[in-house]
Amino acid sequence: MPSPARQAVSTSATLNAQNQQDQKVVIGMIGLGTVGSGVFKIFRDQPEIFFQKIAVKDASKTRNIDDLDLDVLSQDPYAVVRDPETQVVVELMGGAELARELVIEALNNGKHVVTANKELIAKHGPELFDLARQKNVRILFEGAVAGGIPIIMPLKLSLGANRIQEVAGILNGTTNYILTKMTQEGWSFDQALAEAQAKGFAEADPTNDVEGFDVCYKIAVLSLIAFKQVVDPLAIYREGITRITAEDIEHARELGYVIKLIGLAKMGEDGRLDIRVHPMLIPNDHPLSNVQNEFNAIFVKGDAVGDVMFYGRGAGEMPTASAVAADILAIATGLLKGNEPIPSMIIDLATPANLLPVADTQNKYYLRLNTKDKPKVMGHLGNACGDAGVSLEAVMQKGINPDGTAAIVLLTQAVSEKQMNQALETIRQQDSTRDIGCLLRVL
Ligand code: HSE
Repeated sequence: MPSPARQAVSTSATLNAQNQQDQKVVIGMIGLGTVGSGVFKIFRDQPEIFFQKIAVKDASKTRNIDDLDLDVLSQDPYAVVRDPETQVVVELMGGAELARELVIEALNNGKHVVTANKELIAKHGPELFDLARQKNVRILFEGAVAGGIPIIMPLKLSLGANRIQEVAGILNGTTNYILTKMTQEGWSFDQALAEAQAKGFAEADPTNDVEGFDVCYKIAVLSLIAFKQVVDPLAIYREGITRITAEDIEHARELGYVIKLIGLAKMGEDGRLDIRVHPMLIPNDHPLSNVQNEFNAIFVKGDAVGDVMFYGRGAGEMPTASAVAADILAIATGLLKGNEPIPSMIIDLATPANLLPVADTQNKYYLRLNTKDKPKVMGHLGNACGDAGVSLEAVMQKGINPDGTAAIVLLTQAVSEKQMNQALETIRQQDSTRDIGCLLRVL
């Protein structure tokens, strides 16, 4: 059987005439990095998926792909989206602005689009879906959220009969690896980050992952599908994991929790969307608590189905290529049968979300602070919480620190963030308070 690379030496004109009888779908790809190489490898022995052109930054770069015909490579991404033979454009270049221009041109030229670009979909999804609807072509993006885990199609199709109430995801492998190592090995954040970088999970500049930006894009994309609501990813309330200490992880463990970075989106009865990205204490009996290392998971609550969880590898060459290749096949199957490809994946019109301000969200809280070691400290803390209407569930003193302060941990019942902030302000001003260590919300 000929490899796609060998087929690629055929001319466009030959292909044009032969497509129908040879049962080929002509693909143009933009980007041949980690994921692109994986996609190419998956289709190596499938002659019906024919790579006509692949746009790369540097065509002379040595690549670890057997049988790659260098004639397929081009340094001009516009040559891909303007190629008259190409039926499906696969965008794997990343970044939002040039990718948007190229995808718009591809859609305007009547091409179906497959992308794994979370930033593109989070920032420009509604505009692109609208254009795809007008041009009657599809845009599929299963690889954009949680790599190899099927979540976009399942949310839209398999859970389509539900009113989705909540989506809570561990959507970033790098931070989950760091928090897992801090939990299991007692490492500091810096130690765990260094190991994540050595293993190739974390980038040299880890800001995008550890400060939660990556998860903002992913939860914004999930909200488009789960709630048909458009959320500006930059408007999402966000906290990263850099201030979590091994001490917090140990206190959480004693209370029956683990700490995870969560992308959360909940639809309120009043139609307001509670969407945020921050670390949370997860009870040990919640399915998300057992998601370890670089794995991702998405927990979904639907009114009919109840709780469902999707679990797997959220990044990497072959897992993400698995999702991208499945999207290509979903479109190719329709084209090869002469049908309209996968009409059930036309993305509905989304409306701008009415966001619930974070001050109005309801949470249980974990608070770690250091106080002077003297009588009545617990009483003062109890008064500060009580006066703000914050009821406590657990109070823990962890002995006396080497500097003579007392390390105290409070766990509250569910209260509004406004109430918690009021209690915190009073505690901050109390004479017995030395410093506030860490405030975290509980899932
Ligand atoms: N950097 C991401 C992660 C993968 O660590 O999960 C790409 O979204």
